[in-house]
Amino acid sequence: CGIVGYIGEIDAKEILLKGLEKLEYRGYDSAGIAVRNEEGVTIFKEKGRIAELREAVDEDVAAKIGIGHTRWATHGVPNRLNAHPHQSASGRFTLVHNGVIENYHLLQKTYLKGIPMKSDTDTEVIVQLVELFVKDGLETAEAFRKTLSLLHGSYALALLDAEAADTIFVAKNKSPLLVGVGEDFNVVASDAMAMLQVTDQYVELHDKEVVIVHKESVQITKLDGTVVERAPYTAELDMSDIEKGTYPHYMLKEMDEQPTVIRKIIQAYESEAGDLTIDAAILHALQDADRLYIIAAGTSYHAGLIGKQYFEKMAGIPVEVHISSEFGYNMPLLSEKPLFIFITQSGETADSRQVLVKIKELGYPTLTITNVPGSTLSREADHTLLLHAGPEIAVASTKAYVAQVAVLAVAAYVTAKANGQGLEFDLKQELAIAANGIQTIIDSKDVLEDIAEDYLKIARNAFFIGRNIDFCVSLEGALKLKEISYIQAEGFAGGELKHGTIALIEEGTPVFALVTQEAVSLNIRGNVKEVAARGAYPCIIAMAGVDEDGDRLVIPPVNELLTPLVSVVPLQLISYYAALHRRCDVDKPRNLAKSVTVE
Ligand code: G6P
Repeated sequence: CGIVGYIGEIDAKEILLKGLEKLEYRGYDSAGIAVRNEEGVTIFKEKGRIAELREAVDEDVAAKIGIGHTRWATHGVPNRLNAHPHQSASGRFTLVHNGVIENYHLLQKTYLKGIPMKSDTDTEVIVQLVELFVKDGLETAEAFRKTLSLLHGSYALALLDAEAADTIFVAKNKSPLLVGVGEDFNVVASDAMAMLQVTDQYVELHDKEVVIVHKESVQITKLDGTVVERAPYTAELDMSDIEKGTYPHYMLKEMDEQPTVIRKIIQAYESEAGDLTIDAAILHALQDADRLYIIAAGTSYHAGLIGKQYFEKMAGIPVEVHISSEFGYNMPLLSEKPLFIFITQSGETADSRQVLVKIKELGYPTLTITNVPGSTLSREADHTLLLHAGPEIAVASTKAYVAQVAVLAVAAYVTAKANGQGLEFDLKQELAIAANGIQTIIDSKDVLEDIAEDYLKIARNAFFIGRNIDFCVSLEGALKLKEISYIQAEGFAGGELKHGTIALIEEGTPVFALVTQEAVSLNIRGNVKEVAARGAYPCIIAMAGVDEDGDRLVIPPVNELLTPLVSVVPLQLISYYAALHRRCDVDKPRNLAKSVTVE
């Protein structure tokens, strides 16, 4: 979900709508804005995209203060009724909310009996509580604080009071929220990207802080009312990075950027002497650990699986990789000196953050690998390694995955070197070769478009198989296809398919097989024969030089450990073109959001 707010001298509507458009990739089930002028608060909200909200907004309502929201549904189906903003019974208070209030039922039963609810959302409970406490005689700010003290769960909130002409009340806990500072205006945004058009100065908010935002001032307080002083920082985002320019989709732009991303990573992690390096404290933490625990979700989890191979094969450090939503509630036995590595493109994923919070409580060292400097998981971990991929807007992750794999390779390689492991290759050089390899694939998009049409235009399902490191990439290939084309797809270890899943192979079922690892190439080619014999339509994607037998696509040769950087790219492009052929919304696939800030 995304939140915006504006208080200043000019009409708020356009600023709010533009801000929401920038945040739309974070959730797009429904959207709404509320603006306040002398006549009171007016709400516009719609199911669907911001474009639909725009249509619904009455141009004639002018107001210099407002809040807005784009939603990824958690409580309550995505419809107009459940769209934010939500109002209290009398209409005096209007609220937008990101996050989940776990005890909303209990709060409703305890405090709000007899007050009719207009929606099925946990959010409405918050705004009704504020009104209740104001009716009991509290000032709005106090009523807001009292409400917050009762909430269990995550929230980023922006509240309007119809009787307070010049204030937005803001608070956060576990969900990201920033206040942007300008001259004669201030803004609120769950991501600086939303308001970069008006300011690059942002004040970071901490959990359980309450902010009173006026046109000319921003006052941060703790829940007990103590005032907190904090200077703004400059958001170092480039507007051109977050525009799609002449590209039809962000995803295509971001896939095209992948060679550049790898080159940027080489630069960013290069010492003055020209060697790859990482921050000394991080190197220490890695050397000090007897086991690494990688925690991540979605595509980042898939990158983690490859990271495991890097740390084990290059540096000889044992690694476990865990899905964050599982780890938090089912913790395995830990080693004596663990180091926790959180891989997260956004640095905001709630599932991963809840693990970080627990691990910090236990006192273990933590490292976040993220694309977003200053993000929650980056701020809260002991150390951060940045991905340098530039903003990733398309919901399906591409360049961030490649960046994660490259940064994991750098970290493992530098640790291995520091530990005196005799590695026989120069990673910097190998990464540069991989960047060129990716470029070669990107330059032959037409081949991948043909493959997508041939194999997937009318497919009901598809399989991705590989062995060893190719298996990890096949999981990511299947995820990409599912996410954006809605074709049911599974990634499988090539040898495992025959132990059950091969029953699903029918005449013409597409099976994409990755063949980049010399040691298992004959085995995986054997697996391809097994499925072909049962009617499957196999598409072999092999690295040049790894045998050759009926390959549909041959990808440029790279170091055996770095093949994921290159082999994932045809799978991304095939998914992209499959989605286009099937007329799917590539950048904003149904039901998904770029960064899921609820558990
Ligand atoms: C969401 C996105 C996925 C992403 C996952 C983890 O579900 O749709 O593309 O891989 O979150 O996100 P993170 O920002 O933690 O890498």
